[in-house]
Amino acid sequence: MLGAYVGKLNKEKSLGFIYETEEQVEEHLDEYTDKLPRNDKKSRDILIEIKKDETKHKETARELGSTSLSSQTKNLMSLSSRVMKELSFYF
Ligand SMILES: [Fe+2]
Repeated sequence: MLGAYVGKLNKEKSLGFIYETEEQVEEHLDEYTDKLPRNDKKSRDILIEIKKDETKHKETARELGSTSLSSQTKNLMSLSSRVMKELSFYF
């Protein structure tokens, strides 16, 4: 459903969707990094590297002209991501 919505957006809004997605992924990565045991340096380093990649994607979207999404759209994206996270524990 969200994909169909994004398909109807203009280029700048589509890039804004990418920007917001990467922003939310960064937040999730921070959450997971904070939950790691202190001595799990290997996992922490992996998550830090993944976050660097996601930040680059976000910056690229901004450089290509992304525009900000409405707060309702950001909230919908956040909600759908939380639903997917919850469902992933069961499948
Ligand atoms: Fe990404």
